[in-house]
Amino acid sequence: MKTVIKQAGINLELEAAAEYYFDEFFLKYIQEEKLLTFGDKYVLFELPTINKPQQVEEAVFEMILKGYKPILAHPERYSYYQEPGLQSLEKLKSMGVLFQLNALSLIGFYSPRVQKFATQLVKNNWIDWVGSDMHNHRYFEAFKQAIQSDNYQKLCSSENLLNNTLTEL
Ligand SMILES: [Fe+2]
Repeated sequence: MKTVIKQAGINLELEAAAEYYFDEFFLKYIQEEKLLTFGDKYVLFELPTINKPQQVEEAVFEMILKGYKPILAHPERYSYYQEPGLQSLEKLKSMGVLFQLNALSLIGFYSPRVQKFATQLVKNNWIDWVGSDMHNHRYFEAFKQAIQSDNYQKLCSSENLLNNTLTEL
């Protein structure tokens, strides 16, 4: 991919890391300090959507101890955070976890519940990173729509957002 980008004359530096699923392998990689990171030791991880695992806080604590900077992928998509709302994420936030929103969540691509919580997170300035979740062409079409939304524009103008150049042309 790096070669193709260069050949096409696109001025872009491509890095690859991972979105880690919270399982026993992830916990093992933390212990062994074998996580793939991007930028300044940022680690992106995701949780199961329905059941909140035990040990999330412990794993976060461990990551921070080892010098990693944890980013929780799409907090708006977890049912156990949607219902109680922002306060259920307060503990992680106070520990220093950063939050990455999927842009598509803002237009109800996943569900109205996800959209509602995504909007709340944006309105309260709780989002630090935005991602495209670009799996295929269908996602791309929706993404073009998402970046036109008022909430996406609000998010990009937020001082908190660390990658506000995602859709800069
Ligand atoms: Fe994910």
